[in-house]
Amino acid sequence: MSKTPEKQPGDPNTTGHSWDGIEEFDNPMPRWWLWTFYVTIIWGVIYTIMYPAWPLVQSATAGVLGWSSRELVQEEIVSFEEANAPWNAKLVETSLEDVSKDPELQQYAVNAGGAVFRTWCAQCHGSGAQGAPGFPNLLDDAWLWGGSLEDIETTIAYGIRNEESDDARYSEMPAFGEILEKEEVTQVVQYVMSLTNAQSDDAAAQAGKVVFEDNCSVCHGEDGKGDVTQGAPNLTDAIWLYGGSEEALTETVQYSRFGVMPPWENRLTEAQIRAVTAYVHQLGGGQ
Ligand code: HEC
Ligand code: HEC
Repeated sequence: MSKTPEKQPGDPNTTGHSWDGIEEFDNPMPRWWLWTFYVTIIWGVIYTIMYPAWPLVQSATAGVLGWSSRELVQEEIVSFEEANAPWNAKLVETSLEDVSKDPELQQYAVNAGGAVFRTWCAQCHGSGAQGAPGFPNLLDDAWLWGGSLEDIETTIAYGIRNEESDDARYSEMPAFGEILEKEEVTQVVQYVMSLTNAQSDDAAAQAGKVVFEDNCSVCHGEDGKGDVTQGAPNLTDAIWLYGGSEEALTETVQYSRFGVMPPWENRLTEAQIRAVTAYVHQLGGGQ
């Protein structure tokens, strides 16, 4: 048993707790600490009255100052837009050819176009415009629909095979699984593979050449080099939108493909369309 010593006058107050004779002092908090603590509480109360603070079901208390981060952003956007307005006006007035001849305007267009691209185009074409199966790479100089400034602008403004724009680019490769014999599909696939020197069966490819001339050359050309007026890809450059393996090619020929791109004429301003056109064009493959 331990014994708590008698309390002497002048000893600090204790809480009365005692463990094996060890007692707990009951010293008051330092004043400076206590006041700081009270100040933070008062500051907290004032803050929640002045500024948006308490979450409600649909929104939050607005605060008497009426401060809003959304408004702040809105103001910033407006001030940016005002600063850019003369540039955008100039961009719309200048022909696309001449934009590239004015280094300052071109610089503006490429920067603004890059921002548009990252916001609206990257989810399909990739953040670096490198593409993905079904979504063309915009960095190379292989173009489905043409790589001139004008071609690119038309593609972006009206899109491809969509139902929203009457001016959308359109073409449709038939599903040859319903037209050709199975063997003919196999042969023409071998022939397409031979165009890029992929490992192919010579005899089948020979027979496939005839199938190609009869069924495919109207769109892809006698030489298989494609036709940008119909968005028919070049089949000789080893750049594949849907894949160049035997299986992928067989699937393409049997069922055909139908790549769709939305139009942007109603979603973006004319200046934005021109800016993103300039951006895509200078990525490397522009003609
Ligand atoms: C929903 C997906 C999607 C979005 C978003 C999209 N694209 Fe496309 N884009 C496609 C597809 C699919 C094609 C290829 C269509 C085809 O097979 O002919 C394409 C084709 C293109 C082409 C033609 C390439 C060529 O070789 O001729 C350009 C240029 C292009 N897109 C630019 C853009 C720009 C710029 C944006 C943003 C403003 C954009 N795309 C947004 C899906 C998309
Ligand atoms: C009416 C025109 C038309 C005809 C005929 C046609 N094609 Fe196509 N072909 C296209 C178009 C357009 C595309 C692009 C489809 C897309 O982008 O979604 C395409 C795409 C392809 C592709 C995919 C290329 C890639 O990069 O992935 C292959 C392979 C192909 N065609 C082979 C053939 C063969 C083989 C035939 C004949 C049996 C044929 N096509 C007949 C228009 C045609």
